Amino acid sequence: MHFELTEEHLMIRQAARDFAQTELKPGVIERDEHQKFPAEQIKKLGELGFLGMMVSPDYGGSGMDAISYCIVMEELSKVDASASVVVSVNNSLVCFGLEKYGSEAQKQKYLVPLAKGEVIGAFCLSEPEAGSDATSQRTTAIDMGDYYLLNGTKNWITNGNSASTYIVMAQTDPSKKHKGINALIVEKGMEGFTVGAKENKLGIRGSDTHSLMFTDVKVPKENRIGEDGFGFRFAMSTLEGGRIGIASQALGIAAGAYELSVQYAKERKAFGKTIADLQAIQFKLADMATEIEATRLLCYRAAWLKDNGLPYAQASSMAKLFASETAMRTTIEAVQIHGGYGFVKEYHVERMMRDAKITQIYEGTSEIQRIVISREVLK
Ligand code: CAA
Repeated sequence: MHFELTEEHLMIRQAARDFAQTELKPGVIERDEHQKFPAEQIKKLGELGFLGMMVSPDYGGSGMDAISYCIVMEELSKVDASASVVVSVNNSLVCFGLEKYGSEAQKQKYLVPLAKGEVIGAFCLSEPEAGSDATSQRTTAIDMGDYYLLNGTKNWITNGNSASTYIVMAQTDPSKKHKGINALIVEKGMEGFTVGAKENKLGIRGSDTHSLMFTDVKVPKENRIGEDGFGFRFAMSTLEGGRIGIASQALGIAAGAYELSVQYAKERKAFGKTIADLQAIQFKLADMATEIEATRLLCYRAAWLKDNGLPYAQASSMAKLFASETAMRTTIEAVQIHGGYGFVKEYHVERMMRDAKITQIYEGTSEIQRIVISREVLK
């Protein structure tokens, strides 16, 4: 068992760290405040190969492993979780599913530009009444022979307005329940497809979250991913890898808040010494460091299982559950260590605390992760 990163991993980490400091940090507070999508930064991340990290170079990707993906997600999320969620969705929920399950024609047409970062994608599963209960899709895709007629509404869609390619889950045959669901590739601009208002969110405010409306959208049959009725399994399989990305995002948020807390504790003076000299602060930092290290190991383990073709559903849910709870606890403590400064925007940790919350909600709430884990435990 090796606990060391390879030379290549270290180089990727340095590249992501440099990018986060030089390209994401300036303007991160303003983007959060004004809910501004980091379009310029995402374009540059695409040029660096970070939007199709695990896709084969044959399809325009970087051909890296899932550990590299965890590393990049951590480094970007230490500084800007609004940018990193775009990276996560494009890599895990869009590119991965297309590469694994898409037809050759779908890969050439959609995956190549997505993996190169020329366009970005969105994954559309959640609905007003189907969040955690994802089998209860109300969006319909009626089989009309050579096309599907798509009707319905999707909610809380990351990259909702910025994406060009959308993977939409919809019910074709309700009598078959989850086995009647299909995953369809929908292009922005298809007639009857409209993007709703942007959500005004607590956290990851720079990311672009919208509802989407489909009214009699004609989606060609060749845009269905996999065989008829594969859509729910497609979504579950894709989310398995997505949860490694969000776990690594949560890891990064926690690690970012921790690093700022260590730095602040060494500088801030109180009672005639730095607050780092106070045991009350030392114990907080020790707990943060321990939980972050445990989180990182869970993320790497899930990624390692995926890279080695081993089952990783339980491992990715464990990583996401633990990471998101760690992110929440760590950022709350980071605000506490910063005191009054922690409550104002200039010191970053209040934003991190707000950003941490979504990691307990999206790509399956903490309760959903416990369902996935306990099913494996009791199998
Ligand atoms: N891979 C492949 N197939 C899988 C699978 C996986 N990981 N997990 C389940 N399946 C299959 C099952 O084998 C089963 O197929 P069969 O009937 O053929 O055997 C089928 O899917 C149904 O599975 P379940 O019986 O387990 O379904 P369930 O109704 O009990 O639901 C659940 C399980 C875990 C609760 C699931 O509904 C779930 O994960 N819900 C949460 C959804 C979610 O994460 N939404 C996030 C939205 S995306 C997002 O947030 C993106 C973003 O913006 C950042």
